[in-house]
Amino acid sequence: MSVEHEWLERARKWCFRARLETPHWDGPVFERGKGSLLWDVDGKEYLDLNAGQICGVLGHSDERIAEAIAAAARTFVHASSNFYNTAEIVLAERLGMTLPPSLHRAFFGLSGSDATEAAMGIAKAATGRYEIASPHMSFHGFSEQPRALSFAVWGQRHSPPAPGNLALMAPYCFRCPIRHTYPACELACLDGSLEVLDAETGGSLAAIITEPLPSAGGVIVPPDGWLAGVRDACDARDALLILDESQTGLAKLGTMWGFEHDGVVPDIVTVSKHFGGGIPISAVVTTDEVERRAIENGFVYAHSHSADPLACSAALATLDAIEEDGLVARSEELGSYWRGLLENLAADHECIVDIRGRGVLQGLELGAPDGSPGGDIGKAVGRLCLDAGLLFSVRRAGSVFRFTIPFSTTEQQLDHAAALLDSALAEVAPTV
Ligand SMILES: Cc1ncc(COP(=O)(O)O)c(C=O)c1O
Repeated sequence: MSVEHEWLERARKWCFRARLETPHWDGPVFERGKGSLLWDVDGKEYLDLNAGQICGVLGHSDERIAEAIAAAARTFVHASSNFYNTAEIVLAERLGMTLPPSLHRAFFGLSGSDATEAAMGIAKAATGRYEIASPHMSFHGFSEQPRALSFAVWGQRHSPPAPGNLALMAPYCFRCPIRHTYPACELACLDGSLEVLDAETGGSLAAIITEPLPSAGGVIVPPDGWLAGVRDACDARDALLILDESQTGLAKLGTMWGFEHDGVVPDIVTVSKHFGGGIPISAVVTTDEVERRAIENGFVYAHSHSADPLACSAALATLDAIEEDGLVARSEELGSYWRGLLENLAADHECIVDIRGRGVLQGLELGAPDGSPGGDIGKAVGRLCLDAGLLFSVRRAGSVFRFTIPFSTTEQQLDHAAALLDSALAEVAPTV
């Protein structure tokens, strides 16, 4: 009997199955990770192009994060969130320096959900309104308010949310919901969405929240001008723009922040995922004006572990690593190398119908021969790749692969990943 089998027997008895994709008692069972590699309990090696749950983008078990955690563990692990602590203040300063000058009031939470929850609460308190809109292919987390605005996935069969959650049409150009083509469309999806939104809200819109590049919804790269159009739409309605940079922030898209690509500055930005180098921590950063209005209107938000010095120290080490290793530039290099490999694969496999992304966040869309989404192909290829030791995220019911390449990945490892994908695609959908 394999070692994994024994572990799964124990999981079967003791663990709860709320997994995102696999509510089963399936392997692999992972034991350790280093850089871009993971090993399961049987010693089998995996190349992790999902970076854990996207939080391991610096590479698993980075020494600098380990040292920062160890040092904080000996000096100050947890502090009362009723007071400020030095690690928190230094982190707020350092994070603020990476952002446009208007965004410099930071507080720290525990997760992406927690950060988007707080950002929405701030927007409501600051504007005195209660409605929030988000693209219909978005994901903002699993606590109740973010889940209510996560139209892309996993919202089904939950109790009805509080009122005030509205959808905009996502700028999914590859399968445009209104069958239009960019740039001839002149962003008709946004204009139409705003007309409907205005009819629905009756003037009570507190904010629009979006990722600069909706990731979990299928690596949707908005066309030029879309995010700027959302910014204008917020201004015209005295609503705030919240950018959820949980995934896209901190060097992943070849810029320090995803919004830099569009030249748009939000009123509130959130970040989490690799911010703590694998340790849970998130940030919400806003302007003087928004912070003042929210506080004057009684906004309070804290958890027992908000801004704990240990998590703040890990986040400081992450910011150091991004700077020391020049990760903004590396993101561009790694991303375009991987994209080149995907383009080669697309030349050989007709089922690859689109490749999109920025920096180390890249996506590949699969189509069936009749032009419909290739979900069955994707699920089968994903399973074969997993068996062969390659991990990535399979989205949109199987039709989109999302790759989040850890910065520790070498070009040789990417060549290996492409070879594994090539043989899995050839086995499942042998078109040439
Ligand atoms: C854009 C975005 N926002 C929020 C979240 C929620 O983050 P967490 O899982 O840390 O709560 C995620 C998680 O994938 C995300 O992708």
